[in-house]
Amino acid sequence: MATRVHLEPAETLAQRLLATRKLTLDLAAPLSDADATIQPFPDASPAKWHLAHTTWFFETFVLRDHSPEYEPFDERYAFLFNSYYEAEGPRHERPHRGMLSRPSLDEVRDYRAHVDEALERALPTFSAAATELIELGINHEQQHQELFLTDILASFAENPIEPAYAELRPPACFAVEPLTYHPGREGIVEVGATNGRFAFDCEGPRHRVFLNAHRLASRRVTNGEWREFIKDGGYRAPILWLSDGWAWAQQQGVDRPLYWRDDETEFTLGGRRDIDWAAPVGHVSHYEADAFARWAGARLPTEAEWEDFAASADPMIGNQLDEAGAVAPRPGGGMFGDVWEWTQSAYLPYPGFVTDKGAVGEYNGKFMSGQMVLKGASCATPRGHSRASYRNFFPPAARWQFTGVRLAQDA
Ligand SMILES: [Fe+2]
Repeated sequence: MATRVHLEPAETLAQRLLATRKLTLDLAAPLSDADATIQPFPDASPAKWHLAHTTWFFETFVLRDHSPEYEPFDERYAFLFNSYYEAEGPRHERPHRGMLSRPSLDEVRDYRAHVDEALERALPTFSAAATELIELGINHEQQHQELFLTDILASFAENPIEPAYAELRPPACFAVEPLTYHPGREGIVEVGATNGRFAFDCEGPRHRVFLNAHRLASRRVTNGEWREFIKDGGYRAPILWLSDGWAWAQQQGVDRPLYWRDDETEFTLGGRRDIDWAAPVGHVSHYEADAFARWAGARLPTEAEWEDFAASADPMIGNQLDEAGAVAPRPGGGMFGDVWEWTQSAYLPYPGFVTDKGAVGEYNGKFMSGQMVLKGASCATPRGHSRASYRNFFPPAARWQFTGVRLAQDA
């Protein structure tokens, strides 16, 4: 595997594994079986499916392949809960995941317990290769924890009675700091994952890129600034938009961020509430982000500009740190937290990228077409899952994730 893992005592890995598995169950605790079963649209998955698919990942790539005495919980689940791994055979169609009223949520919880017990039993016997796959499985499950929340938000947003998933704290005390621009480094810099800490294969190899003179904004674009864009006719001015983006906005009737309900309120995981004008705007597509940037006399950063700025401006958030130094979201400031930040960079392989052999080689590489890179982290990203080299990616029209905007300029 090309993933880079700092091998640690099995006990620590076991603790992180169980903590990650438990957090997913905790996320599902407020849900009814019906809440967990519905699928709001084909790109979003039911909560129950996330619970089962992350379990299938461990069952298949760790237990089946590295624990000879393992007995599958139910042979039929491989068809139901394989996401997109061609090497693992045929699978249930993604747009129909919401049709699975069976197995029940409780049966899926039993499936999780079965796999967790087997993992715990086998852990002391695992080879280094199996241990690397557990690390991959932990990080995979953390990605699904974020998707779990964005997909529940999308499901509840479909419901006219506007249910709340959880009591959310009132918005953090965002203060509108004046937006200032800060020079990034110019010249040849290195980007990509460094050794010594887990990274997905697509984050490497580390390599050199050339950065022209540029400046990055001190903070993300706020809801208040987005309101100015709307008032100024930003959604009605084709001159601001990429051709594909303009066609998309016209066809979909897009004229505001996804969950804004009217001029004053938005739908959130805590139900409907007043828009906090000082908070970073979220749930905007790459197309909208790009149009906003043009309106603001700026542009979106490249992923290399963003990564070098994050890694060099604050060594606390670079790649060199251990788990204890991992990123804590800082509302309103810093490069990580609140919302992912769209870049102008297409999601493409780095020089020297080689797809892993076997099924896990399908994890990232095969999606390097038609998607844009996002950097940072969001309010829904599990702690410790963020780093400067992280490459999130979505198609340019996607906006059900926690996605926002940081501006850049040529210097
Ligand atoms: Fe997955």
